[in-house]
Amino acid sequence: MDLIAKAEAIRARKKNKGTAPLSALTAYDYPTARLLDEAKVDLLLVGDSLGMVVLGYPDTTHVTLDQMLHHVGAVARGAKEALIIGDLPIHSYDTAVEALANARLLIEAGAQAVKLEGGIRQAGKVRAIVEAGIPVVGHLGMLPQRVKEEGGYKKKGKTEAEVEMILEGALALQEAGVFAIVLESVIPSAATLLTEELAVPTIGIGCGDTRKTCDGEIAVITDVIGSYPWFVPPFATPRADVASEITKAVKGYLNALAR
Ligand code: KIV
Repeated sequence: MDLIAKAEAIRARKKNKGTAPLSALTAYDYPTARLLDEAKVDLLLVGDSLGMVVLGYPDTTHVTLDQMLHHVGAVARGAKEALIIGDLPIHSYDTAVEALANARLLIEAGAQAVKLEGGIRQAGKVRAIVEAGIPVVGHLGMLPQRVKEEGGYKKKGKTEAEVEMILEGALALQEAGVFAIVLESVIPSAATLLTEELAVPTIGIGCGDTRKTCDGEIAVITDVIGSYPWFVPPFATPRADVASEITKAVKGYLNALAR
């Protein structure tokens, strides 16, 4: 299936068309991508969250395009079925020309769609990328690339004005051609309203009970498998404790060696 057809198949999974919620996880390397793909997750995001959970930076604002290309290539070698989305990192889409050139590089590295953060001010860039035949996912609500300006990771959609602003941005992105929109840390009532107002699927993270608020859910893989114990967001539900398993295995290895 070509990348446009794959993105269209995701767009068609809008909740009100009676289909199962979309599933999305982040992946940053070959073995994880292969395991998640074989587990049949719909979407794999090579997110710039790799800045924290893989590269050890305090936030996503340190991630470069070269780093993204490196990890997109690894994920693309591991996944056969899931649609692979590559994040455009901070300052890689300051203008429409840069946005398109760098989206093309992510596609050449193996992504099948790209994601960027922001609303109305990104609509022209989205349009330029989509017109070049590259599917785009939007990202609204809490924007991690703006964490410094925002002074932290805050919930969004708490006031009517804020909901209105997110909705305007979402409609502008939809009009520009995105096939889905990630909603991050939007309070449940606002996420539900946005999901109802939009024709494209919403994919929530930190938006409450996904089955009620959004058309699908995305989670950071390290939160799901418990492999990054130093910070776990309050909304995450760890389903394994990989960090403890690693520690146990390594202690076993060291003890056996010392005997
Ligand atoms: O980079 C990332 O992992 C993301 C998700 C939080 C949606 O953008």
